[in-house]
Amino acid sequence: MLQEVLSLAPMPWASLPTVPMKPSPRYFRCRSLIVDTEAAPAIEAHKVSFSVTNRQGKLVPILNNCSLHVPPGQLWMLLGPNGCGKSTLLKVLAGLLNPSDGTVNIKKPNSFVFQNPDHQVVMPTVEADVAFGLGKFNLTSDEVRSRVSEALEAVGMLHYSQRPIQTLSGGQKQRVAIAGALAEACKVLLLDELTTFLDEHDQIGVIKAVKNTVVGSEEVAALWVTHRLEELNYADGALYMEDGRILMHGDVSSVLSFIKEKQVSSTLFCKCPNQHLNIMVCKS
Ligand SMILES: Nc1ncnc2c1ncn2[C@@H]1O[C@H](COP(=O)(O)OP(=O)(O)O)[C@@H](O)[C@H]1O
Ligand SMILES: [Mg+2]
Repeated sequence: MLQEVLSLAPMPWASLPTVPMKPSPRYFRCRSLIVDTEAAPAIEAHKVSFSVTNRQGKLVPILNNCSLHVPPGQLWMLLGPNGCGKSTLLKVLAGLLNPSDGTVNIKKPNSFVFQNPDHQVVMPTVEADVAFGLGKFNLTSDEVRSRVSEALEAVGMLHYSQRPIQTLSGGQKQRVAIAGALAEACKVLLLDELTTFLDEHDQIGVIKAVKNTVVGSEEVAALWVTHRLEELNYADGALYMEDGRILMHGDVSSVLSFIKEKQVSSTLFCKCPNQHLNIMVCKS
């Protein structure tokens, strides 16, 4: 009954509040999802747009009026066809790109983890790599050691602390990169298609590491871009984008139904042979 009532709520994602939140009412409706507005969001975007200027000097919109809200202690997933703007949105949230319009509020420090694991591990051993970013904090060596151990423990890589980086699998490197962010006490992880190049075992290892991190801390939030619908099993909430717009923002089952309805109702969608890309648009 509650689900039915809430699914009737108008404008589910376009009218998310900006910080500071209105103290009352405590809950606002977001397409079948109740969001506690008293918990300060870890990530919040309000009507964010982003454009680039092409060679002819014309403005090309990439993101259009994107609003979203991710609470602390949760793992949310962002899905959508190739080229719909997922990576651009993540970069705007991370502050790597400035929005043309709208506002972003995100807890700091935050960390952006890229798709290719070889682009983010820089030191010869696991332990040294996780400690790499701690130089700026003026910590004692005991504090560094303890932060590194805790971060590696959180991603299930503590036993690998002395291992040379080049002996790790892609997924293990991703987990080391995530540990680096955790050691720096990052409050938000922005994770861009980390599992694209990974085999199934590595894929599950990385996603479980992120899930354990957000569940264990209750403070760290993660926004995870993926093509793989099965990864939604680990999510606390999800967003679906097309053409630079967020079409759906809410609980996992609603977003999954929305995507599946689109797949059934549109011949634009295909089931790809490896089942990992089953939300990709076929340009035929
Ligand atoms: N700096 C840029 N200049 C021109 N076009 C861009 C730029 N960045 C992204 N785009 C375009 O914006 C669209 C969205 O890109 P992207 O965010 O990478 O999509 P996704 O991650 O969903 O595959 C694509 O069509 C891409 O070509
Ligand atoms: Mg991308």
